[in-house]
Amino acid sequence: AHQWRGVIREYADRLPVTEQTRVITLGEGGTPLVHAPALSAHTGNEVYLKVEGMNPTGSFKDRGMTMAITAAVEAGAKAVVCASTGNTSASAAAYAAQAGLTCAVLVPDGKISMGKLSQAIAHGAELLQVDGNFDNCLEVARKLSENYPVFLVNSVNPARIEGQKTGSFEVVDFLGDAPDYHLLPVGNAGNITAYWKGYKEYAAPYQSSTAGELPAVATRTPTLWGFQAEGASPIVKGYPVTEPETIATAIRIGNPASWEQAEAARDESGGLIDSVTDEEILAAHRWLSSKEGVFVEPASAAGVAGLLKYHAAGEAPQDKTIVITVTGHGLKDPQWALKNADGDDVQPTKVPFDVVSVAAALGLEA
Ligand code: F0G
Repeated sequence: AHQWRGVIREYADRLPVTEQTRVITLGEGGTPLVHAPALSAHTGNEVYLKVEGMNPTGSFKDRGMTMAITAAVEAGAKAVVCASTGNTSASAAAYAAQAGLTCAVLVPDGKISMGKLSQAIAHGAELLQVDGNFDNCLEVARKLSENYPVFLVNSVNPARIEGQKTGSFEVVDFLGDAPDYHLLPVGNAGNITAYWKGYKEYAAPYQSSTAGELPAVATRTPTLWGFQAEGASPIVKGYPVTEPETIATAIRIGNPASWEQAEAARDESGGLIDSVTDEEILAAHRWLSSKEGVFVEPASAAGVAGLLKYHAAGEAPQDKTIVITVTGHGLKDPQWALKNADGDDVQPTKVPFDVVSVAAALGLEA
């Protein structure tokens, strides 16, 4: 039986690799595009979720990291570094472990989820909690890579964008063409940059470095809608946010590295970048788990929150095909599921060891 071989081998003719490249892979990509019946019925569209929590370390970062760590090995690096709100560090640590590289991760003190922290530690990363936010961490990581023998694997590294553009390829390969709209969360803005690059490359003849000219796969590109968290929405505001705040810690970023590329993706696609509140993010997070059966971490629900917000305002598309990337797994940051809509802790109902009491607690009658 055919097993998915990871994004580098599946899309080798569209990535900067050669036959000699030693591919570092955990089998990332090939994630399900799940039809979302409740969102489709509610908004009057065909809505699909690109479930990136199904990647090996539980987020979309693995698509970029297979390329970045492969490039680091190819460049002869012995050590890699990244700044992270958690998912990038988890991914970098895992791929570096396979490659036998030292991995240093800089994370904002106290603002990353337990799940992500435990991954970085399990994979043997040098974990440094920086007294500052993500933007400060990235500044230090960049300077470190410029002045010391360490290879930067944040999405400012073009290899990361190359790997992540495969998300678009998979959507088109599955649907048969690009969707009308593609919605996603925006943090450091690497992913919206990568999706747009992928969609453009699939909608035009492509000059492959290994396979000559490849014909266009898609007839069109989608309109991109990106969503930041309101307390961390520099692109929406038009200026950097020095103290970003949101419960969606993955996208708690005040000065995105790929800001200009994100604006280009927005403008060239005729799309928008807007913000959603923490309440809207948590409501979308609950919608996904309770109505669609898809458990994501809060930041991952920002695209769905955006669709619900525009639908409520009567400004959502109608009768369109809409793909929404949900970026990371719910088990990364499970504490939010243990609170109800009022923010109170949900307590399990305690019952004695007896079937009549269990049936009564469930409201069942014989
Ligand atoms: N969703 C999740 C779950 C993320 O972890 C991130 C970014 C994003 C969305 C935003 O993607 O930065 O490409 O716009 N996390 C980075 C990290 C910053 O360090 O893990 P982006």
